[in-house]
Amino acid sequence: VAGPGSPAAPKYEGVHHIYANPAAMSGYLSGTFPDGAVIVYDQWSAKALPKDAIAAGERKFIDVMVRDSRRFAATGGWGYTEFAWPDRTRVTAIEQNPQGCDGCHQGAPGQDRVFSSWRE
Ligand code: HEC
Repeated sequence: VAGPGSPAAPKYEGVHHIYANPAAMSGYLSGTFPDGAVIVYDQWSAKALPKDAIAAGERKFIDVMVRDSRRFAATGGWGYTEFAWPDRTRVTAIEQNPQGCDGCHQGAPGQDRVFSSWRE
């Protein structure tokens, strides 16, 4: 969860769901992601509920990373894309911007450009 005071707000404010296919799961466990790994990042707004509870509100967008070391050699083997919500259109301006997806993911500490990590 990113709160309104996060440096990542307003875009990333809210609830983050991250999904990994089996190849991506092996990357989370080993630290090296094989070709064929797909990670989906599902961003929701946060909705305040009574008694100080917070729940996921509306979906804001979906980001996807696909590992193909040949096709995406220029960006560390990762292809990135974003789908706006609710119209599901692809936001190509972001994926083509070197300061965009990969520019930030290059800074992910120690895990093959992936920020999140597996928790038991
Ligand atoms: C300003 C930095 C920044 C930018 C720009 C950015 N991301 Fe991320 N991304 C993050 C961070 C930080 C996380 C981890 C969030 C969490 O754990 O809740 C993340 C998580 C992800 C994940 C889940 C895997 C992981 O690395 O943890 C995917 C997939 C993803 N981003 C795709 C994208 C795509 C596609 C774009 C471009 C449209 C993009 N990101 C742009 C910082 C960024």
